[in-house]
Amino acid sequence: MAIFLTGSTGYIGAHVAANLLDTHAASLNLLIRAKDAEEAALRLWKAIQLHLDFPRFYEHLQTRIRIFPGDLTAPQFGLNRDDYDRLIHTTDSVVHCAASLNRKSEKSCLNVNLRGTLEVVQLARHSHYYHGLRRFSNVSTVAVAGKRQDEVVTEDRAIDWERSDYDPYARTKKFCEHMVRELLPDVQITIFRPSIVLGDSRYPETTQFDMVKAFVFLAGLKALPFRPSDQIDIVNVDFVADAIASLHQKAEPLYDTYHLSSGRDSQTFREVTVALSAAQQTRSPIFLPFFEKAFAGTVNALANRKGSLGYGASLMKVFMPYLVWNTVFDNTRVTAELGKKPVPFSKYSYPLLKFSRDNDFTYHHKPWPAARAGGSAA
Ligand SMILES: NC(=O)c1ccc[n+]([C@@H]2O[C@H](COP(=O)([O-])OP(=O)(O)OC[C@H]3O[C@@H](n4cnc5c(N)ncnc54)[C@H](OP(=O)(O)O)[C@@H]3O)[C@@H](O)[C@H]2O)c1
Repeated sequence: MAIFLTGSTGYIGAHVAANLLDTHAASLNLLIRAKDAEEAALRLWKAIQLHLDFPRFYEHLQTRIRIFPGDLTAPQFGLNRDDYDRLIHTTDSVVHCAASLNRKSEKSCLNVNLRGTLEVVQLARHSHYYHGLRRFSNVSTVAVAGKRQDEVVTEDRAIDWERSDYDPYARTKKFCEHMVRELLPDVQITIFRPSIVLGDSRYPETTQFDMVKAFVFLAGLKALPFRPSDQIDIVNVDFVADAIASLHQKAEPLYDTYHLSSGRDSQTFREVTVALSAAQQTRSPIFLPFFEKAFAGTVNALANRKGSLGYGASLMKVFMPYLVWNTVFDNTRVTAELGKKPVPFSKYSYPLLKFSRDNDFTYHHKPWPAARAGGSAA
């Protein structure tokens, strides 16, 4: 039997897959968008090579990974009857990590997050009917808490249906939590809500650059339009992946929902910028919070432009709410249960920034070694 994991070619999903394989010796059923198993294996290798060398990856691929080339938005993932049956009968738990994070596209969030999660729930219901499902873990987001300002939000107080959401992404993820709970009433459910997942505390390399670009842009400014004492809840991806894998595998986690965040220990803008300036031997930026509205207005206007300036501004526009809401997400549950805390962002932000700049925001993937055959399908 295996864990059905979605999103393994993504940033967090690849970390979770590597952790489940290496630390927990788990077997995985992976849904990967590709035309066939060979292309899917290649895509998985690209995503996971940050964590595993090829021989180790290949060994896992041969022994403990079963690939299902499919799409969340297709009925039964677009699998043929035999493969879909095989998936049902070999899945004993689910980690649903795939999502559309396209905050600007209502259509994409509707299709991938709502229709896609419904497909995963249907699969879970079939598996549960035939042999019982051990757990359904749903990777959500702290953005389900909607519009906030100057708060410490606990897990139980995050969902408030009367509150407005920032964007279609947050709205659809909020409904996904609801859908999973409503449609799987007799399955053990664990909801994970990461905050801003940015960088790995163990090494500077990353394959995800969107948020890093916004961060590098801000780090280059001599004046920042923020309040220096505002906290920003950033969490390292290795902490997030470890928490998801460990709690998913635990027989009886203490709670059904966890914030995977830095919580009250979140650093302030001042703490982050002072550490960065020290590492770069430059002067710390000055803070001009009264320019926040003008800055946001400029970003909004530039976001409609074409070209790299427009692209950079649209990224910044997406992340602006997270930068100015001065809201953190209580992480007492996860830190007490795992016995460890996230690494403060200032401890690893400079290597991340340097790697990203030096490599022009590109991860140079190693190719698939010529002598080895590709992956095998379900
Ligand atoms: N990154 C963050 O800061 C953050 C913060 C809070 C919560 N989260 C949550 O964490 C999870 C993972 O986020 P991430 O940052 O790792 O995102 P990501 O890098 O964009 O990865 C998304 C994954 O979902 C897959 N996917 C998207 N549409 C699909 C479809 N139609 N069919 C099958 N697979 C599909 C992607 O596959 P392809 O490779 O084929 O595109 C990819 O593997 C999400 O649930 C997100 O809401 C992320």
